Amino acid sequence: MRPSRSPRTTHPVPARPRGRRLLALAAAAVAAPAVLVATAAPSTAVDDRAADRAKDRAVLKDHQNPRDTLRAAAPKGFYLGSAVAGGGHHEEQPYADPFAYDVEYRDRLAREFSSLSAENQMKWEYIHPQQGFYNFYPADAIVRFAQEHDQVVRGHTLLWHSQNPEWLTEGDFTDEELREILRDHISTVVSRYAGRIQQWDVANEIFTEEGEFREENIWITRLGPGIIADAFRWAHEADPKAKLYFNDYNVESFNAKSDAYYELIQDLLADGVPVHGFAPQSHLSTQYGFPNDLRANLQRFVDLGLETAITEIDVRMEVGEDGPTAAQLAQQADYYQRALQACLDVRECKSFTIWGFTDKYSWVPVFFPSEGSATVTTETYERKPAYNALQDTLRAATRAGWGR
Ligand code: G3I
Repeated sequence: MRPSRSPRTTHPVPARPRGRRLLALAAAAVAAPAVLVATAAPSTAVDDRAADRAKDRAVLKDHQNPRDTLRAAAPKGFYLGSAVAGGGHHEEQPYADPFAYDVEYRDRLAREFSSLSAENQMKWEYIHPQQGFYNFYPADAIVRFAQEHDQVVRGHTLLWHSQNPEWLTEGDFTDEELREILRDHISTVVSRYAGRIQQWDVANEIFTEEGEFREENIWITRLGPGIIADAFRWAHEADPKAKLYFNDYNVESFNAKSDAYYELIQDLLADGVPVHGFAPQSHLSTQYGFPNDLRANLQRFVDLGLETAITEIDVRMEVGEDGPTAAQLAQQADYYQRALQACLDVRECKSFTIWGFTDKYSWVPVFFPSEGSATVTTETYERKPAYNALQDTLRAATRAGWGR
């Protein structure tokens, strides 16, 4: 099943993954009754890691002006983030896993950003590929990298309809077993990174455009919406310091979908459920208007006592043979700038994450073959007007004493 591309939505429904790559370690785990955990790569990979670190150090020596970055421009206490490219659509591309192997990419990721989000590496199909087997290796690498580079981490994601492993979606489990599988997953994954993940997307994309619970969501369909409260409670028990979020696309504006979150969150808060944040992902397109009510929409959730964040922004466009036009790039810069400004204007919006920072690795052309150029730098890391607009806006906020 390919993603739907309804013109009404600014974002596709992601495809449900099918056959999966199986690690040798995972295969061994299938037969074993106990919970197995992979925390280290085979020895050759360990050697590769040492070599990678040496290469990283060489590139880092050659760094540009450390003040001329997005993270340096940001006011203190405001986090500028990027998704960490790896897994997902990258596996279908003619290059090696970017985060694991692209030294220049890693260098820029370290220098430009103060927050990292796991693009795919913490999703069920990666971190829990077999029943009773967790593969923490890729996620551990991100958390370790973040610590080395003084970055916070956004965990993504715990309860979602997509990128779930086949053993789960095709398994013959009773409702009670399914509930226990989710509880174990959340407790195991969240406690592993306790104190090292700033925000978790606990529930991702649970509503349709009409504000109904998605039928594809195995957890909600099988166990009922009450499982959402359980998920937040289990995550909070596992890491009381992490801020726990709802995350979705097409909720930048006031509409049936964001209204559904607004209602649900009020009910959950009234029941004492530890919900801390609501985040519009913000996958925007120059084909559609900018969501002018973004700031007001963020504010209504903050008024409930929540924090908020922009978690996955990119701004895609129809790209002709000659590449994007100056007008398209200007419109894109304007969208990025306005989204950032909306976040900066709302007191409890302190984290702004772009879903990849180079067109080299963007998910957009894979989902939308005629579209692209959605990130803030080109495939060769040249800065687009959008990069400059973000940097200027961050510097202006710093000068204006943002947060004080
Ligand atoms: O697993 C199937 C495989 O069986 C099939 O043969 C193959 C053929 O197309 O597709 C495989 O699925 C891929 C999936 O990752 C598996 O991991 C998809 O094609 C691929 O496009 C997908 O990409 C990821 C996507 O989430 C999946 O929904 C992207 O890398 C990732 O950037 C994207 O990130 C999401 C956020 O998590 C949530 N918000 C939206 C955002 C963009 O879609």
